[in-house]
Parts: sequence; structure tokens; C-alpha cells
Amino acid sequence: MASNTNILVTGAAGWTAQSIISALTSQGYSVVGFDLPSAEYLPTIRRMLASVYVGDIADAGAIETCIKSLRPEAIIHLAVAVGAQDYDEPERPFATNVRGTYNIFESAKQLGVRKIIMMSSAAVHLPAPGGGIEDAHHQLRTSAGGDHLYDLTKQLQEAIAQDYAANFEMAVVALRAGHIVDGRAARDPRGRPLQEVQYCRGGWVCRHDLAQACILALEHAPAGFRAYHVIGSREALHRFDVKRTEHELGLKFNQRFSEFPRA
Ligand SMILES: NC(=O)c1ccc[n+]([C@@H]2O[C@H](COP(=O)([O-])OP(=O)(O)OC[C@H]3O[C@@H](n4cnc5c(N)ncnc54)[C@H](O)[C@@H]3O)[C@@H](O)[C@H]2O)c1
Repeated sequence: MASNTNILVTGAAGWTAQSIISALTSQGYSVVGFDLPSAEYLPTIRRMLASVYVGDIADAGAIETCIKSLRPEAIIHLAVAVGAQDYDEPERPFATNVRGTYNIFESAKQLGVRKIIMMSSAAVHLPAPGGGIEDAHHQLRTSAGGDHLYDLTKQLQEAIAQDYAANFEMAVVALRAGHIVDGRAARDPRGRPLQEVQYCRGGWVCRHDLAQACILALEHAPAGFRAYHVIGSREALHRFDVKRTEHELGLKFNQRFSEFPRA
């Protein structure tokens, strides 16, 4: 994909979006952000963006207006319900994660956007199922625990993505990210040093490696649906088909987190 092309990023004010927007703009892409009215961009990130749209992805009209005026070559879909109480009731996760994803695919289909990269989620927070390497060709796993609603809506996002790729000749890549941290800064999203973080050890991915995965997916996505595990931790090689991701996307992880073994 040529540089200077327009890319729409949803959830653009989020922490995960920061590394992706930096990587895209340094490659010459023109990036437009979409996020909620309450969202606050880091000033350095806001300056990288060609423009920003303010709205809710659950509002089909807002997404349609944005895509109609921008006519992006591709969409990187990151927006997800992240409010403190969002998962206490099903309304918000279904509105944002499921209906919002449907709105994006439906508007993209109608307005001729053929490529969507979607941030999905690897089952690094769930116990290993046993019986070999987890294969991203299989349906995303959910669990009966406290993450059930989040997991279920992420699974439904992939079902929507697969359906649109199959029926409307779209090129869709779902990147099943591990727990996202910043390996360069050795911090998690809350700013805690990684030495103090135990959550999902062995299942981390550096947000800068994830940004490279987004760019490779943008540049090489064939027609149809592909899902890839994107997990940098060395231990993940024994549990997920990360080698296929490296091989098919051409991704090289800079952060393997060997110094942070699972307890
Ligand atoms: N955080 C992780 O460790 C992790 C792991 C695997 C996958 N993911 C996925 O990565 C993506 C980014 O998630 P994150 O947890 O890093 O959050 P984040 O920090 O990137 O924040 C998400 C952004 O989405 C925006 N948003 C929320 N609802 C919206 C709506 N209705 N309309 C428009 N924008 C909206 C928020 O304002 C926020 O800026 C998500 O798809 C998430 O499921 C995250």
C-alpha cells in the first residue's frame, strides 16, 4: 500500500493506538482518528493526525459520515468499551464492540473500503486448553469467568469480520493480541514498571511490535479473512501458533520478555 494513503483509526485516542499512529505516520501514511467526545489525545499524537472525527462507533450515522467524507483506503479498528463499569451490564459492550463493529463493516462495504485490520484478543488470560498449540484458524475461545462478556463480544467481532470478508470480497485481518505492554519503556498501560506486573506474564506483546503487525497486515492482507496470534513473549511460542504469524506476516518481534518469566 502506497504511503500518503488515508487510514482511518478507531479508538485513536487510546493507549494502544499511540504506537500504531506513530508507526503509520512515520511510514508516510495519512491517519485520521475517530474516538468518543470524552476521549483526550496526547498532544504529540494529535499533532500526527491529519484530522479527527468525534463520535460513537455505535452510531451508524457518525461512522457513515466519517467514511463518506474521508474515503480511506483502509480502517484499523481498535475502539472497544473500556469504561470502569462498562462490563457490569451488557448494553455498552454490545453497543460498542458488536454493533460498533457491524457499523464499521457495513459502512465500509457500502462505501467501497475493502481492507480492515481489527484488533482482536488472544486467550492469554485463560488457562491453556491442553492438547497442543492454539491455532488462530479456530474460533476465538471465551470463558465462564469475569471476562466472559468481553471475550464473547470479541468473538462476535471476529464473526462479523469473517462474514463480511466471505460475502463482500473484503480483506480482513484480525490481530489476536496478547496482553499489551510497552517493552521499550518497560511499562504497562497504567505506567507500572513491568517488574511489578504479574498479569498474563508469558502472554505479553509490546505495543510497538503490534504496530509493526498492523502495518504488515495493511500492506500484505489478501482477500478474505485471516486471524493471527500476535504475542511476543517467548513462552507463547509453545502455546500459540505465533510462528505462523511470523512466517505469513513477516513479523519480527523485538520484545520477547525473557526477563519476565511466568511466576
Ligand atoms: N489492552 C490489552 O491488553 C488488549 C489485549 C488484546 C486486545 N486488545 C484490543 O486492543 C484494542 C485497544 O484496546 P485497549 O484495551 O488497549 O484500549 P485503548 O486504551 O486503546 O482504548 C480504547 C479506545 O477506544 C475508544 N472508544 C471506546 N468506546 C468507543 C466508541 N463507542 N466509539 C469510539 N471510540 C470508542 C476509547 O475512548 C479509547 O480511546 C481493543 O480492540 C482491545 O479489545 C487489548
